[in-house]
Amino acid sequence: MEQKLRSKGWFGRKGKDGFIYRAWMKKQGIPTYELTDKPIIGICNTWSELTPCNSHFRELAECVKRGVLEAGGYPVEFPVMSLGETLIKPTAMLYRNLASMDVEESIRANPMDGVVLLCGCDKTTPSLVMGAGSVNLPTIVVSGGPMLTGKHRGASIGTSDVWRFSEAYRQGKMTEEELTLAEAGLCRSDGHCAVMGTASTMACMVEALGLSLPGNAAIPASDSARKVMAHLSGCEIVKMVEENRCMSDVLTRQAFENSIMVNAAIGGSTNFVVHLLAIAGRIGVELNLEDFDKYSAGIPLLANLQPSGEFFMEDLYYAGGLPAVMKSLEGKLNNSCITVNGKTIQENYNEACCFNERVIATADAPFNPTSGIIVLKGNLCEDGAIIKPSAASAHLMKHTGKAVVFEDIEDYKARVDDESVEIDENSVMVLKNVGPKGYPGMPEVGNMGLPARLLAKGITDMVRISDGRMSGTGFGTVVLHASPEAAAGGNFAVVQTGDIIELDVHQRLLQVHVSDEELAARKKAWKSIAKKPGRGYVHLYINHVEQASKGADLDFLKGGSGSEVTRDSH
Ligand code: FES
Repeated sequence: MEQKLRSKGWFGRKGKDGFIYRAWMKKQGIPTYELTDKPIIGICNTWSELTPCNSHFRELAECVKRGVLEAGGYPVEFPVMSLGETLIKPTAMLYRNLASMDVEESIRANPMDGVVLLCGCDKTTPSLVMGAGSVNLPTIVVSGGPMLTGKHRGASIGTSDVWRFSEAYRQGKMTEEELTLAEAGLCRSDGHCAVMGTASTMACMVEALGLSLPGNAAIPASDSARKVMAHLSGCEIVKMVEENRCMSDVLTRQAFENSIMVNAAIGGSTNFVVHLLAIAGRIGVELNLEDFDKYSAGIPLLANLQPSGEFFMEDLYYAGGLPAVMKSLEGKLNNSCITVNGKTIQENYNEACCFNERVIATADAPFNPTSGIIVLKGNLCEDGAIIKPSAASAHLMKHTGKAVVFEDIEDYKARVDDESVEIDENSVMVLKNVGPKGYPGMPEVGNMGLPARLLAKGITDMVRISDGRMSGTGFGTVVLHASPEAAAGGNFAVVQTGDIIELDVHQRLLQVHVSDEELAARKKAWKSIAKKPGRGYVHLYINHVEQASKGADLDFLKGGSGSEVTRDSH
């Protein structure tokens, strides 16, 4: 193994160079043999008090370290940019690619032979996996785990209830005091959002890809099994280094197909699409928007979890976790895909059992025969848009209505409750300029709230279309990621209030009933109202971010540069 260790390029050197590399590490009390005779395992930590979902990661890192030491490696923990979904403005998605650059360069530039990625809150998973993918060392993911189920007035609550509370508050059905009480009951423990929102979806994504040990996704953060999972992952990464099992050995095209199928079965977040496309781009696997529709098709909803269903991540864990869901998909998955532990995905889930069929259904009796992501095409989204049917209303899946267009989020906020805006439950709400370039950063505002006067009438859903994203905890008949986005000047940029829009989810159609000539004339007169690039990172981002239909990565970050560093300054 000795000649294979990358860290020897630092610590195995003789003379002045080796002296410098080792001497400063020794000031931390590390004996020479730890550096020269053992695999060095980086623990990439997104702990931050500004990312509350990852606030337990220092303790989790200690558990990983115990496993690494036990297996004969030497652990070194390092921080990277942490993205807390709830606090970061204007949106954490603006910084996903920036964080991935931090991760990539931190791994490549430093003496490590393998990496453990500590991932939790939404963007901390894709940013770490993207960055690590561009280096392609042996890598394993340890997720932070979901919070315990929230409780309020005897009921179970989760992040999806925030949207319900918000509507109730706007209608005067919930007081400020009640909201504050609910706030205290929502986040009861360490961990990320307890529903099948984006963080849980990302944890399931990495497990389905084979990037984590089996069972990693669902264990609650505060369950002692989470610490055991971290410990065992620490042991496993040392074995991965010994066997030289790199990310690209796990992240095959078939693994991505598995991940799409599993995402459909769990009713995963629509954000899965932009993140999986971006990860595939880093590892050099061809994946396109149509693949999400193709591999979701025929996969029923098997996990009865909010926001598509009833239960919470804690319940999924008690019911058998993701391995039990995957076992129900046995006949569909690419079962021979190799995972981080060297076993096939099927060997990993083979012993799984379902302990509660109210939470995990069988493929013969699913909770909903339709699930996954449906990709829409038509003249309103020349490069595609997506909808999550399990979160939508059946009666709106085929709908034609008059557009009510909001030019940007400020316009929406100013006019949504304006009595002079002609809008009813048959209208189609359109929100522009919330795409990657237009906002910039593609915020989660696509499930815009309905006008208060329609809520008061008892209307709970309407067709909504935008070039933005929706929180994984959101729901409704919401068409997202319209590409090209308004700021890119496609047909979506010139749709107007009063235009007739046709949505037919079954036919995969999103059409505006305006002639090609009229659309061409409007585009000729069109002027972008998107924010102009400022300085710094946002300038870089706006000039290089790709459309949502391609994963919204920066164009120059696609692919990888490997782990080799050929020059040094000593
Ligand atoms: Fe971190 Fe929901 S806010 S996962």
